[in-house]
Order: sequence, then C-alpha cells, then structure tokens
Amino acid sequence: MKRILLTGGSGFVGSRFLNRWHGQGYEVLAPGHKELDITDADAVLRYMQTHRPDVVLHTAAISNTGYCESHPEESYVVNTLSTIQMAQSAKNVGAGFVFFSSDQIYNGNTETGLLNENTSVSPVNHYGRHKLEAEQRVLDFMPEAVMLRATWMYDIPRPGMPAHPNFFTNIRKAISEANTISFAIHEHRGITHIDEVVEQLPLTFSLPGGVYNYGAENLHNTFDTAYSFVEQWKSNKVASASVIADMERFAQQPRNISISIAKIREASNGRIDFTETLEGLIQSCVRMD
Ligand SMILES: NC(=O)c1ccc[n+]([C@@H]2O[C@H](COP(=O)([O-])OP(=O)(O)OC[C@H]3O[C@@H](n4cnc5c(N)ncnc54)[C@H](OP(=O)(O)O)[C@@H]3O)[C@@H](O)[C@H]2O)c1
Repeated sequence: MKRILLTGGSGFVGSRFLNRWHGQGYEVLAPGHKELDITDADAVLRYMQTHRPDVVLHTAAISNTGYCESHPEESYVVNTLSTIQMAQSAKNVGAGFVFFSSDQIYNGNTETGLLNENTSVSPVNHYGRHKLEAEQRVLDFMPEAVMLRATWMYDIPRPGMPAHPNFFTNIRKAISEANTISFAIHEHRGITHIDEVVEQLPLTFSLPGGVYNYGAENLHNTFDTAYSFVEQWKSNKVASASVIADMERFAQQPRNISISIAKIREASNGRIDFTETLEGLIQSCVRMD
C-alpha cells in the first residue's frame, strides 16, 4: 500500500481525498495544522524522516485570495516558502511531490480561448504570484515534481464535509430563495466538481514532472455558464431564480483563466480527463435531485 502524506487534510480538497482514498490502496497520513505546521521546516523534515511517505500531496495553503491580498507576507510564507520547504523535505526522503497550484496564475492574461501551460503568465494578485513562484522554485530543484493548476471547485452539499461558498452553492441558495444572482460576462473560467478532482488524483502521482492544468474546460463566460445551468435546473425541477449579467466586473480588463487540459490528457494517455464545466454542473444537479 502506498503511503501518502497529505497536507491540508481538514480542507475542502484534502478532507475529500482522505475520505475517498484512505485504506483504498493508500495509507493516507493527514496530520492536522496543530500536529504539523507546514511553516515549521524542521518539523516537516522530522515528520517525513519518521514516516517516510512515498508521495507528498500538498494541498495545505491559504486559499482565500482576498485574505492573501490583505496579508501578503503570510501568504508568501505559507503558499510559497512552505511549499518549497515541503518539496525539499520530500526530496530528502525520496518521496514524490504533487502540489495544488491554481488557475489564478493566469489571472493577468488577456488572450481568449483555452490557456495551456506554455502560455506566458503574469498574475495580478499576490495569491497567483505566490503560487507561480512556488511552482517555479520547486521545479528548479525537483523537476520530477507535479504542479496541478486547479480550477475553482464545487461540491454538492454533503454532511460532515467542509465547504466554502462556491458557484454551485451560491446558485442553489438563489434558487431556494427565488432570488436574483449576478455573474460576470467578462470572465471565462473552468469550474470543476470536486469528485472528479479527487477521483483522479492518484493518477497524477505517476505523471512526468512539470506543470499541468487540472480541472474542467469551459468555453462559456461565467454568466452564460450560470444562466444555462439555471435554465436546465428549472426545466428539471420547479425553481425560480434569475441570473443577471454583471457587465461591470472585469469590463476594463476581461478576465480569462479558462484552462486547456490537452497536456494532462496526453501525458496520462487519456486516463485523466474532466467533464466540461456546464455538462458537469448539469450532471451534479441531476444527481442531487
Ligand atoms: N478550493 C478551490 O476552489 C481551489 C481552486 C484552485 C486551487 N486551490 C488550491 O487547492 C488547495 C486546496 O484548497 P482547499 O480549498 O482545500 O483549501 P482550504 O479548504 O482553505 O484548506 C486549506 C488547508 O490548509 C491547512 N493549512 C493552512 N495553513 C496551514 C499551516 N500553516 N500548517 C498546516 N496546515 C495549514 C488548513 O488547516 P486549518 O484550517 O486547520 O488551518 C486546511 O486544512 C490549495 O492549495 C488551494 O490554493 C483551491
């Protein structure tokens, strides 16, 4: 059984990975924040030397982009420096390293269409810059490490699992309150069901090192995605919510962080793949009903 050291095991992604894979072909060690503070490099190395994981799956982070913007030093320590130290310790014990990066790395890009990993990037916020620096500095000394640029993720509500407000829950709330909800027309981004993310993670452990986009493709803008999804939901079930186009947000600089997953598909011989965003949302809604 492969031994995985999972950081961030109490978080949105980590908790679901632990729940899905511990004891299912993997022994997942998931020390909590109090047990292993990832900013403590000595403690991290000691932990690795004691437990000797085969792979480190690093999901611990400050994931709130607004918080990172107002606390850049803390974001840099946790999201960049600790990631580098974590990878150094993994290398020290001969473990693989898989890191949750983010599609926010593309948030300064202005071109249209699905973005691939070779696109030159210049993130406009601290979160994106800190993730990018972590990716680059880890790959400098550990080219075999795997960097996953994840999209925004959602889950249908499930008991006992932590959740952030997300695209799906925000819409569901509007539907249940027969309310209006607005989404940006000048934004393109992938939005991915967490189950697809978690289910395929073990396949990423054997990818060649490098950067991979990881999540759903989406050619629709965020308003169109939400509008089509709600219309579909309404036709399945009596629901009344109005989706309004927010024309102002990102109007000055349209935002496109929509990823292409051609690289990871090819590197995994087609074994890693994601349902396109709108189709994935509709399938989730059908499953919930
Ligand atoms: N959620 C998304 O839609 C999304 C999208 C793209 C990329 N990502 C990336 O994917 C990864 C997982 O995201 P998530 O949504 O699961 O994040 P999350 O729910 O905010 O969880 C973050 C985890 O990190 C832990 N943590 C934070 N600081 C720590 C420290 N100093 N030492 C040890 N543990 C620490 C937290 O533990 P405590 O709560 O106990 O502090 C928590 O378990 C992150 O790298 C995030 O940037 C997420």
